[in-house]
Amino acid sequence: MATNRTFTMIKPDAVGNGHIGAILNDIIQGGFKIIAMKYTSLSDEIAGQFYTVHKERPFYGELVSFMSSGPIVAAILEKENAVEDFRKLIGATDPSKAEAGTIRNKYAKSIDANAIHGSDSDENAEIEGSFFFSAFERF
Ligand code: GTP
Ligand code: MG
Repeated sequence: MATNRTFTMIKPDAVGNGHIGAILNDIIQGGFKIIAMKYTSLSDEIAGQFYTVHKERPFYGELVSFMSSGPIVAAILEKENAVEDFRKLIGATDPSKAEAGTIRNKYAKSIDANAIHGSDSDENAEIEGSFFFSAFERF
């Protein structure tokens, strides 16, 4: 059964390029409600834990150092069919292949600095949301 929540991070490139406000606006205009949110930064160790599913991939080291290179915005979002609809809103992993109007199409420059993360399943949405937020930080 599809849950109605997903997890996102606005990545260091998009934060550094001043796109936090525009991206949050796209998310809200897309019909998502913010359940939890924080502005923080990831150590190498925390970024490595978060992306542990990609440990064997050749780009894991680059991914971890990029994700710990500057502050990020983490959030839990709510909407019917949240995981799938949010992946549509953000667009393809490679921004050159992301559909016009998607967040990655508008704000990302490369496959490694691709502006935003979105959970890929209900199960991972729950795991990732709980990695960042306690029950007391969800509204
Ligand atoms: P996330 O929402 O961030 O999880 O992206 P995704 O689900 O669209 O892609 P995936 O989970 O397969 O990869 C996770 C992240 O690794 C991507 O968002 C990219 O930032 C990075 N990544 C994926 N493929 C490559 C690659 O070929 N090279 C590099 N440098 N990074 C990659
Ligand atoms: Mg992914």
